Amino acid sequence: MPRPVRLVPAVAVLLALTGTACGAGVHGTPGGSGVRDPYFPKAGNGGYDVGHYDLTLDYTPATRRLTGTAVITARATQNLSAFGLDLAGLDVGSVTVEGRKARFNRAGQKLTVRPHDDLSKGETFRTVVRYSGTPRTLTDPDGSEEGWLPTADGALGLGEPVGSMAWFPGNNHPSDKATYDITVTVPKGLQAVSNGELADQSTRGGRTTYHWHTAQPMASYVATVAVGHFDISRSTGPHGLPIITAVDPTQAKASEEVLAQLPGIIRWEEINFGPYPFSSTGAIVDRPGSADYALETQNRPVIPADHLATGTLVHELAHQWYGDAVTPKSWQDMWLNEGFATYAEWLYQEDHGGKSAQQTFTDLYDGDNEAIWAYPPAKPSSAAHISDSPVYQRGAMVLQKIRQKVGDDTFYDIIQGWVATHRYGNVSTADFTAYVEKKAPHRDFTEIWKDWLYGDRKPDHP
Ligand code: TRP
Ligand code: ZN
Repeated sequence: MPRPVRLVPAVAVLLALTGTACGAGVHGTPGGSGVRDPYFPKAGNGGYDVGHYDLTLDYTPATRRLTGTAVITARATQNLSAFGLDLAGLDVGSVTVEGRKARFNRAGQKLTVRPHDDLSKGETFRTVVRYSGTPRTLTDPDGSEEGWLPTADGALGLGEPVGSMAWFPGNNHPSDKATYDITVTVPKGLQAVSNGELADQSTRGGRTTYHWHTAQPMASYVATVAVGHFDISRSTGPHGLPIITAVDPTQAKASEEVLAQLPGIIRWEEINFGPYPFSSTGAIVDRPGSADYALETQNRPVIPADHLATGTLVHELAHQWYGDAVTPKSWQDMWLNEGFATYAEWLYQEDHGGKSAQQTFTDLYDGDNEAIWAYPPAKPSSAAHISDSPVYQRGAMVLQKIRQKVGDDTFYDIIQGWVATHRYGNVSTADFTAYVEKKAPHRDFTEIWKDWLYGDRKPDHP
């Protein structure tokens, strides 16, 4: 029996916009709305693959007004008559595709664009979106806030899992990574910090422009902008790796000691996880309460000062390998981020005179934190629970189970080879289990996968 098709409003509008003659003779169909993410079904769009975002933003904290131009270079993966971009709130002034004015429509989080001429499969095309307004703070299914967070002296743009659409239009799903240029103009005296490296800075007419360039592919959820007063400092870490930290001046003293550990943490992580995957590192430390969590924004994690601690820094920097360089294909595979970053904390403790990872594992198994067993790491119960302890702690426990089975040599081979094989790409849990089995062909992982990764309840044995 054919599957019934239910048209959501955005798709209905898309279809209504199509069906007229095509200029270049290509007959396209609309790209899909959403990329079938099991936890965030609206996120992302089908029919194209973004290669580069060139974002030019202007922000004034006093008025909270943002004006932006997004130049999105993408390749069509089908003949396209229309395609969607994710954008929550803000007013769109105009859209052009390949230099020609395009029709567009807004419905929910979708900005649907109908180019003047249909696009051919394989064609690289450039879309320019001009927009403005007061960016929104979004509330996630788990109640946490993301998107655009106004702060005491500026704002933070944070995007896990879907908040980047609050400050720029794009294909807002981790499966479509791209390089970025992010240029932000702010009132003179304030700073704007983002991912990658600072390519250019200039002051004119009372406003300062900061241009940040990200050369390695980045998922939209780890793109960031931090506006406010920041002490920006540059140094170099292992093998000359540029370190750029931005610290709210009111937090300079309090954050000094932990930030001084950053080069040593990178050095330790390179020994354990392999070469640092990006062309710079660092951290952005804003005031306490600026966000309720730290986030592994690419190159330099955002860490509110009340979250800054050695363990958090180890965790967020470990995400540069696990999450940022090697990115989940869908939000179901979150444990590939959080299980690894949590395990990195366990390993760091083990190597620095603390509990062994095995002891941390045993304590969790014997402890009475029932929440850990609420659902399996590889199958969170719902979008509201993708950042709970089964993903973090039990995810890390899966790695300890693998280590128990294969021994240290093979284990480190696995966690390093996993990054070397998949860096700048996307992965699923099935890719991971297949990779582990390939690296240790004579071992049987059936029970680990069944009980620890996919099992609904607490495994019978630690
Ligand atoms: N990824 C962050 C960390 O553990 C935590 C986090 C912040 C998060 N926002 C989230 C996790 C939204 C899932 C969804 O470093
Ligand atoms: Zn994390």
